[in-house]
Formats: sequence, structure tokens, C-alpha cells
Amino acid sequence: MAVAELIDRKRLGGRLTRAELHALVDGHLRGDVPDYQVAAWLMAVCWRGMSPDELADLTMVMAESGRQLDLSSLGQLAVDKHSTGGVGDTTSLVVVPLVAACGVPVAKMSGRGLGFSGGTLDKLESLPGFRVDLSAEQFVEQLGTVGAVIAGQSPELAPADGKLYALRDVTATVASVPLIASSVMSKKLAGGAPIIVLDVKCGRGAFMQTESEARELAEAMIAIGQAAGRIVTAFVTDMEQPLGSMVGNALEVRQAVNALRGSTDSPRLLELARVLAAEMLLLAGAAPDPEGAHHLIARALRDGSALAKLRDLVAAQGGDPTPIDRPEQLPTARLRRAVPASGDGYLAVVDPLAVARAANRLGAGRERKGDSIDPAVGVELSKSLGSPVTRGEPLAVIHANDDARLAEALALLAGAFVIAPEPADPPPLIRARMSAEA
Ligand code: URA
Repeated sequence: MAVAELIDRKRLGGRLTRAELHALVDGHLRGDVPDYQVAAWLMAVCWRGMSPDELADLTMVMAESGRQLDLSSLGQLAVDKHSTGGVGDTTSLVVVPLVAACGVPVAKMSGRGLGFSGGTLDKLESLPGFRVDLSAEQFVEQLGTVGAVIAGQSPELAPADGKLYALRDVTATVASVPLIASSVMSKKLAGGAPIIVLDVKCGRGAFMQTESEARELAEAMIAIGQAAGRIVTAFVTDMEQPLGSMVGNALEVRQAVNALRGSTDSPRLLELARVLAAEMLLLAGAAPDPEGAHHLIARALRDGSALAKLRDLVAAQGGDPTPIDRPEQLPTARLRRAVPASGDGYLAVVDPLAVARAANRLGAGRERKGDSIDPAVGVELSKSLGSPVTRGEPLAVIHANDDARLAEALALLAGAFVIAPEPADPPPLIRARMSAEA
């Protein structure tokens, strides 16, 4: 089979068969199809899309590129959760231990930073020694002993997504419904959890900029999950501003730890974590109704069991759990620079894309495949949308390890904030809840 013919067919809007997708994806995995041909095909998919059948085939080819875990020996329903990628979105680090502390096992397959968005695996690797490449056996065993596991694609679990993901990250081929849907759902199917809760981001700091695009993505993922016999709920949630006040890997670990300690300094992050956790508990049958679920969540936050679960998860995956209790031991940057307000008024825009680009320029994300991440750098927002501000007051603090990059981040952030004379209401956090039944 000539790969160029397959690329050309997709360029013209045609459909590849399952066998052809298998040859392309598996050939890439084995090293027989080079990155440049796969990158061309990815770009053609971005422009031409995929029919539901072709998307289902691609997802199964990717899921079947490694093992598909059977979690039935747990004797309990396990849940998984995934965000389609946002800015300051450290929800998984709060939700996974929180739900596990409420008695429901969480089997989470995560990703690295992608395009401008952060990735749970990169954040967790801020903790010295933390391992994300678990074998299938380790994944299942830890789920049984700790009740929570967060792992990435590996040679055993959705390896095809691992390769495509790294290529998409650096070839501007992320923002595509079929590519996101197949990437997310291939990992979810491989991870084996029968219950999946999806957080589909929408807005300027998301790959889906409009609510209708986000709904389309949610529908595509729900259909894939349903066809595979999984129970899937998707929330469409706002990403017109960074979700939390920290953007950067170690900074976001610190924010998640603070949230698990009951800090309310990031109310939208905490609200979203509660909504997603409650859905996971309800679907798993751990609570009879939403009030019951929220009661369990409040208790796990109050009595410290959610924080203890994060400690256990980190230790089980080889990480040093000390920074969970002493966040000052997380990697910190050498340089700090405040971004001052240009006038008096109310904060009307905090552009999540500009904030993410600044964080990535500092070294929080990758520009080329295989780039290493600087865990310490990022942007700490001092004000949220709608807050009153006075001229000269800091709107954000840049955490940097390099003077030139600091200057570039400062320039990128210059246009990130808009101050208006009157306060405006921030957009609602939860835009929609979708499931196969709805
Ligand atoms: N998360 C993923 O796992 N894949 C994507 O393509 C986007 C978000």
C-alpha cells in the first residue's frame, strides 16, 4: 500500500478503510511509516474530518495498538475522567484522589501537554521520581491496592496514541474533532474503566472555541464510548479564562494540593472538580443522589482523606510524596516578575491563550518533539475576571528560569488583560451536560 495514496485520498475528503488506517497507524508505531507522512495525513484529517464510521475505526485501531485492560477482577465499577485540554486545568489532580477517597476506584489514562494546553502527566512529573509509564499489571494492581492510578500511553497501553500525540503536539494538528475524539477515547477504552466522565472545554483557551464545536466533540466521544459498551457523560465547560490561578506544571500541582486542603483560592477549579467528582460517584452507584455525592465529597475534603489518597498514589508510582505536605519543596523558579495593571477598573478579559503561550515560552510546554519541560516555570494569576484593579497593582507573577524567556513571556502577557470601567459577570462554568440518554 502506498502511504502517499492514502494521504491524497484524505486530502480530497475520501475515507480510509479500517485496514488502511491500521496499516498507517501500526506502520507509524513500528517505524515503517515516517513522521512526515503521518503529519501530512493528520493535517488532511484536520481539514477534511472523518465520518462517524471512519472515526470509530481509527479509535479501535488506536485502542487495539496495545492491550485493553479488563478491570472486572476488581469486583467494583471503576471510573475514568478526561479533559480535552485547557489552561490552568489541574482538575484531574483534585478529582482522582477525591473520588478514590469516596470509595470508587479511579483508573485514569492521561496525556502530556498538547499544543498550548497543559498535561496531567507533565504536572505529576514535577514530583521527583513519579512514574507515568506503568505496565498493564502495575496499573491493575495499583488500582486494587490504592484505589487510584494515573498513567500515560506506554508500549502496552494505547501506544499508537502516544506516537500520534507527540507528533500532533508540534505540527499544529491538535484542534480536530476526530483526532481529539480518537486520542481521548482510545486511551479510555484501553484503560478499561466502564464509566467515563469527560470534560469538554470550550472557549478561547480550548481546542474547541465555540459551544457548538464542543458539543460536536462531546457527541462523537459519547457515541464511541456507547458503541464500546461504556457509560459516558460529557460536560461542556467554559475556557474563556484560565480555570485555576496557576499555569505551569509544579505550580498546578501546588494548586491541586491547596484545593485538596480545602483552600478556596481557586473557586472555579474547585466547583468543576466537585461537579465531575459527583457525576463519577453517581454513575458508579456510590451515592443515591447528587446531595449524597456532594456530602461524600465535602467529607473527603474535610477529613483529609482525599489529600491522603493523593499521597498514596504518588508514593505507589515511585514519586516522593513529601511535597504534598510541604509544597515549598516543589521545583521553584529562580526569577519572579510581576505584570502590573495598566489602569484602574475591573478585569474584563484574562486571555487564556496568551497566558498559556507565555507559560510555554517560559518552558512549561514543548516546541519540538522530545523537548524537555521546565517544571518550575509558569504564570501565577493574581486576579480573576471581574475583580477590581488599580493601576500598577500586579495582575500576574511570571515564574522564570531564563531572562530572555522572561522578557518574551512579559511581552506575550502584555495583551492578555483587558481592564473595563464597569464589572462584568464571568461566563457560566458549566455550559451543558450530555450523555447517550439525553
Ligand atoms: N486529550 C487527549 O488525550 N487527546 C487530545 O487530542 C486532546 C486532549
